[in-house]
Amino acid sequence: MSDIKAAITGVGGYVPSDILDNDELSRMVDTSDEWIMQRIGIKERRILKEKGKATSDMAVMALNELLEKTNTSPGEIDFLICASITGDMPFPSTANLICYKAGLVNAFSYDINAACSGFIYALETGRRFVESGAYKKVVVVGADMMSAITDYTDRTTCPLFGDGAGAVLLEPAKGDDFIIDSILQVDGSGYKHLHCKAGGSLKPCSHETVDEREHFVYQEGQAVFKVAVSKMADVSVEIMKRNHLKPEELTWLVPHQANMRIIEATARRMGIKPEQVMINIERYGNTTAATIPLCLWDYEKRLNKGDNLILTSFGAGFTWGTIYLKWAYNSI
Ligand code: UT7
Repeated sequence: MSDIKAAITGVGGYVPSDILDNDELSRMVDTSDEWIMQRIGIKERRILKEKGKATSDMAVMALNELLEKTNTSPGEIDFLICASITGDMPFPSTANLICYKAGLVNAFSYDINAACSGFIYALETGRRFVESGAYKKVVVVGADMMSAITDYTDRTTCPLFGDGAGAVLLEPAKGDDFIIDSILQVDGSGYKHLHCKAGGSLKPCSHETVDEREHFVYQEGQAVFKVAVSKMADVSVEIMKRNHLKPEELTWLVPHQANMRIIEATARRMGIKPEQVMINIERYGNTTAATIPLCLWDYEKRLNKGDNLILTSFGAGFTWGTIYLKWAYNSI
């Protein structure tokens, strides 16, 4: 095993400027601010409305900010991995388009699809590339334009989602603060509770699939909720235990932002206080692969070198997991 460790050395983010709030949603479907706040905890979400723009454009905005903040030129990046379920096109990969648009002329790149766990899966992948010694500057992107696959006539799903992108830079760690441990899991039998019915090889696009509204997120909310609560908490408790991390030693839990009640239940099982939990669900909703890097982006100024962070997520697949890391820098 190599002695090289991987550290997050910068974070960038982007959300579109257009806001869809609960009042406007209440005029589109039979719902209310009160119901959405009580059952989910979302006040508003950002929507990418600009014609001709897509997931890669949000990712490029986040990436450009990251490069500027870390004083990195595009040509220095060796590898970029993009987690998304709303790529610009079925092929080529959105990661390729991001590299092209941002001038990453020396990087190779590809996408991974792990839905809401995409960023955690991609971070684990990027980390291992750095640890191998072969790559020195790796960008991990989580980006989703969920408005493209959200049915705004379905009140059970349309309040949930928003658009956004986040990106982090991974480099060989200089000191003792780096990505320490991870647990990643999958259960493909969960597909039936959360998926997109058409547009893949099982059911290619047709007039019928469009008429049946089968190109949008299909979710059986309660079934997903139950498994999400137990799986996110299970792996988060397990990673604390095996790293001998007491609740009071954890600086931040960085949970996927799908539902405030899932986040609170996870924090309770871990024995941590609400003030140890990063939350931005009320402003952005569920941006799928982007929730975790957007939390890091929002809270960056409050993070200090040596802070103990646990990242955790649950999503379609089912996919879930957790990563334990020590934050590697002070931002001011
Ligand atoms: O990020 C990927 C993983 N996804 C998740 O983690 C999401 C997990 N699931 C959830 O977060 C929740 O299940 C939802 C937020 C999707 C739904 O909340 P819930 O508390 O499970 O509601 P429910 O589906 O059990 O519905 C309760 C009631 C139903 O009415 P009846 O049958 O009791 O009369 C629904 O028709 O609430 C109704 N309802 C709504 N009412 C007002 C459903 N959606 C709405 C709505 N506004 N938007």
